[in-house]
Amino acid sequence: MQEITIAIDGFSSTGKSTVAKQLAKHLGYVYVDTGAMYRAVTYYAMQNGFIDASNFNVDGLVTDLPKIEIGFKFNPEKGFAEVYLNGENIEKQIRTLEVSSFVSKVAAISEVRKKLVEQQQKMGQDKGIVMDGRDIGTVVFPDAELKLFMTASPETRAERRYNELIERGDNIEYEAVLKNVQERDYIDSNREDSPLVKAEGAIEIDNSKMTLEEQFTKILQLVEVAI
Ligand code: C5P
Repeated sequence: MQEITIAIDGFSSTGKSTVAKQLAKHLGYVYVDTGAMYRAVTYYAMQNGFIDASNFNVDGLVTDLPKIEIGFKFNPEKGFAEVYLNGENIEKQIRTLEVSSFVSKVAAISEVRKKLVEQQQKMGQDKGIVMDGRDIGTVVFPDAELKLFMTASPETRAERRYNELIERGDNIEYEAVLKNVQERDYIDSNREDSPLVKAEGAIEIDNSKMTLEEQFTKILQLVEVAI
């Protein structure tokens, strides 16, 4: 069967990665979580003193970009690829609220976006890929055969993210998670370079009131039409 490119964009915690993983597994496609790549650069910036609560050294980070190598390696136990920064598995480290609180600022830097978009385009050059993020249908793969734009209310999204963090054992307040979700929505939608917008031809899916099964069935029908 002919392989296609599936681009999934949307606000944070809209369940993009859940459905992207389901689709990749079902279709035998590669799944790429581009948010993990922006999180990896942010983690590097934090580790190297380029960003903290009171300081953001954009020039220092941009100068260091050639030293940042991001890769993915499939973990058969988990069933998806984990992200590596310069050879180190940082899958767990990039999911903290601290990384979430800085990542949208790092993702607004054009030089960072250029580097990651080039890598993403290379990863998808042979199709057979499901990629999720904020600019996949608009910038990375504007010619994708299927483009989805996922939405859900901020409260639903914050609750999902809060439950995920609590399950991991993080000590966190719901209000802090909601605030982070709203701040990231704002920065991601209003930045100059590649703001989060619904791509031309994208199909909008509001999953506030859908079960995972309902969502998967609906999206699979769209995939069948696109193939
Ligand atoms: O998807 P996730 O919530 O992990 O993404 C983290 C952040 O990375 C987003 O809030 C956004 O600022 C940035 N991002 C982006 N472009 C992408 C993917 C993520 O700007 N393609």
